[in-house]
Amino acid sequence: MSTIKNICCIGAGYVGGPTMAVIAQKCPEINVTVVDINKSRIAAWNDEDVENIPIYEPGLSDIVKEARGRNLFFSTDVDGAIDKADMIFISVNTPTKTYGIGKGMAADLKFIELCARQIARVSKNDKIVVEKSTLPVRTAEALRNILDNTGNGVNYQILSNPEFLAEGTAVQDLQNPDRILIGGDIDTERGLDAVQALVDVYAHWVPEANILTTNVWSSELSKLTANAFLAQRISSINAMSELCEKTGADVNEVAKAVGMDSRIGPKFLQSSVGFGGSCFQKDILNLVYISKSFGLNEVADYWEQVIIMNDHQKRRFAAKIVKTLYNTVSGKKIAILGWAFKKDTNDTRESAAIYVTDYLLNEQADIIVYDPKVKKEQIYADLEYLGTHSSEEIRERVKVVHAAQDACKDSHAVAILTEWDEFKELDWQEIYIEMLKPAFLFDGRRLLNRKTKEDFGFEFYAIGS
Ligand code: NAD
Ligand code: UDX
Repeated sequence: MSTIKNICCIGAGYVGGPTMAVIAQKCPEINVTVVDINKSRIAAWNDEDVENIPIYEPGLSDIVKEARGRNLFFSTDVDGAIDKADMIFISVNTPTKTYGIGKGMAADLKFIELCARQIARVSKNDKIVVEKSTLPVRTAEALRNILDNTGNGVNYQILSNPEFLAEGTAVQDLQNPDRILIGGDIDTERGLDAVQALVDVYAHWVPEANILTTNVWSSELSKLTANAFLAQRISSINAMSELCEKTGADVNEVAKAVGMDSRIGPKFLQSSVGFGGSCFQKDILNLVYISKSFGLNEVADYWEQVIIMNDHQKRRFAAKIVKTLYNTVSGKKIAILGWAFKKDTNDTRESAAIYVTDYLLNEQADIIVYDPKVKKEQIYADLEYLGTHSSEEIRERVKVVHAAQDACKDSHAVAILTEWDEFKELDWQEIYIEMLKPAFLFDGRRLLNRKTKEDFGFEFYAIGS
């Protein structure tokens, strides 16, 4: 029976950092070392002031405070941590490929492969290697090939243990997961032993009934499937939002009525300006690519529609702003409230705000952004990354301010793109007074009450009504 004493996690990002912090908190007898090649990220994780850790998640800094220096360590010494570990989690990024075969669709596995080669080079005793990153089904086969062919003759067990946490609720999701999924080589004694070793880690705080073990391929594919199903619900309700706007139905009422059917359920039916985040689009594109590579074109087309609908939703929200403002926003000031892809995170990857702003820049609008957690340079970097506007133009046309009220002052229109709670509490009457008239308010999150805003005098538009 393997008992885990030392864990190494390669990748100190949104998944590696919080996941390992919770493992360290719940398993005080296990040493957990999180390593990364990004020196400044590791320095931030080690910052004396725990409020400066690089990832904002409610409750995370308290856990880091409790465990850091006791049995939780952050380091750039990747070799050293691999060498010492019995179990190595790979939690590096797996973005969509931006070049070559599969460009724009397939997952780029170069970071995964580098990890495998490094583990193979460094390891001098048997290791359990855990796929924590989201990976295409059958990646474990490629990992095995590299580990067995470039290693030092030691034995590896490869497990798949996808992460289901959502940002903004990462700590809660990690402490109370719906399920833990562990895929392993369950037909062999050694494989079963490795699976049990990881079950034992989670069993410190997760009831065993919620720890599901499967073969490796089912586990790898279940992660892509779960994200595809979740995103599909959002695209489904967003598709209905457009129909609601044409027919006088209200998407929130429809979602409630539909969600009360216990077979459908109420969660993940919030209509929005479109889903963002680093996972949904990337993972569905990956699923589409995998399906196509097996010649399953109908399967690929089915899932691709989820992305097509999401892109449409972002575009049509931006187009609605332009159309409503008399078909031109050229030189008009538009306030964007919220830049993060959802509330309670500072993550902006694939945020709808980026695409809506880019669209409005195409129409020569002047943009003022406020987000409570996202830094100015991140906003510029997100727009520059699209490559549609020069850095100079972006910095000239897009301003970032530190208060919502300042963003809205003297604007022609306000657009809510992230559902931050504080936007509900703003002094909307005062905002109305300070805006140009007619004062347009576009609610991309169904956050605000229509009646009170219309009573203040706003021209109010909300997704799906
Ligand atoms: P991230 O970009 O925040 O973090 C990845 C980290 O890995 C980076 O800090 C990077 O420097 C580091 N890294 C890359 N190559 C390395 C190497 N060779 N050695 C050491 N460090 C290396 O990514 P993330 O959001 O944490 O996602 C990681 C994986 O988890 C992805 O596969 C993602 O799909 C999956 N996932 C993410 C979420 C989420 O909410 N973000 C949820 C579930 C699963
Ligand atoms: C998602 C999955 O939920 C999680 O299980 C997986 O591990 C990683 O990907 P995340 O992207 O962090 O998590 O957040 P999530 O809460 O799923 O939201 C994704 C996007 O969908 C956000 O932009 C959110 O605003 C949007 N969304 C979510 C909706 O528009 N409507 C909803 O009903 C739910």
